[in-house]
Amino acid sequence: MKKLIVANFKMNQNLNEAKQYFTKFVANFKGERANVIFCPPFVSLSLANYFLQGTPIKLGAQNVNEEEAGAYTGEISANMLKSVGAEYVIIGHSERRNKFKESDKLINKKIKTSLKNGLKCILCVGESAIDKNSGKTSEIIRKQLEEDLKGLYENELESVIIAYEPIWAIGTGNNASVKDVEMVAKIIRKVIYENFSEKASRDIQLLYGGSLNEKNYQALLGSNGIDGGLFGGVSLKVDSFLNIANSVR
Ligand code: 13P
Repeated sequence: MKKLIVANFKMNQNLNEAKQYFTKFVANFKGERANVIFCPPFVSLSLANYFLQGTPIKLGAQNVNEEEAGAYTGEISANMLKSVGAEYVIIGHSERRNKFKESDKLINKKIKTSLKNGLKCILCVGESAIDKNSGKTSEIIRKQLEEDLKGLYENELESVIIAYEPIWAIGTGNNASVKDVEMVAKIIRKVIYENFSEKASRDIQLLYGGSLNEKNYQALLGSNGIDGGLFGGVSLKVDSFLNIANSVR
């Protein structure tokens, strides 16, 4: 099966930079080894959609509001994202949980609104360094998953991808080990098994994210139970990301 490679550009790249990036990526992506999803900032979604149309590359957003529409100045709805060609949305990224104080309850609402509007969700979970050092990884991951996915029907889970992104590994150059990733992949599948079904726990796609780079991605994405990766910093370098997307095993 092809690996799933997701790029989260975070708050980087203006429209001109996006134009240059997508022109080069689309011209050089071979598409033999990976399925790719780009999550650029909101303002570049339309432009990215223009470049990605007619290619197998998919588009996603980095955030969505939990309400359908209304007086929410500065916010973006799931319906708007669909209308500019986004098929996916990242929800529950640790930067949103920590810097924007998003709770599991809010994340649960965002997932439900997104699914209702036909957007697939990339749900991020992960523990802090303090949690890890005090042996609480399993407990934290379980709590996040159970609260974030509360009330979902099993068939809705087919539109959810889960990314394990340990907070201590994001943007630090300090990636998790294959052993860490395999242990957490097992925990995630166990929680899905207990809350949904054996089939759901087998079928759900799991990603690893956190300081992935050209040197470590093959080993980390080769971890047992992992279907792909969520890339931050390195995805902004078009040559590096092309190399990853064209060479992943
Ligand atoms: P880095 O790859 O820059 O560590 O970021 C990972 C991430 O947060 C992707 O969502």
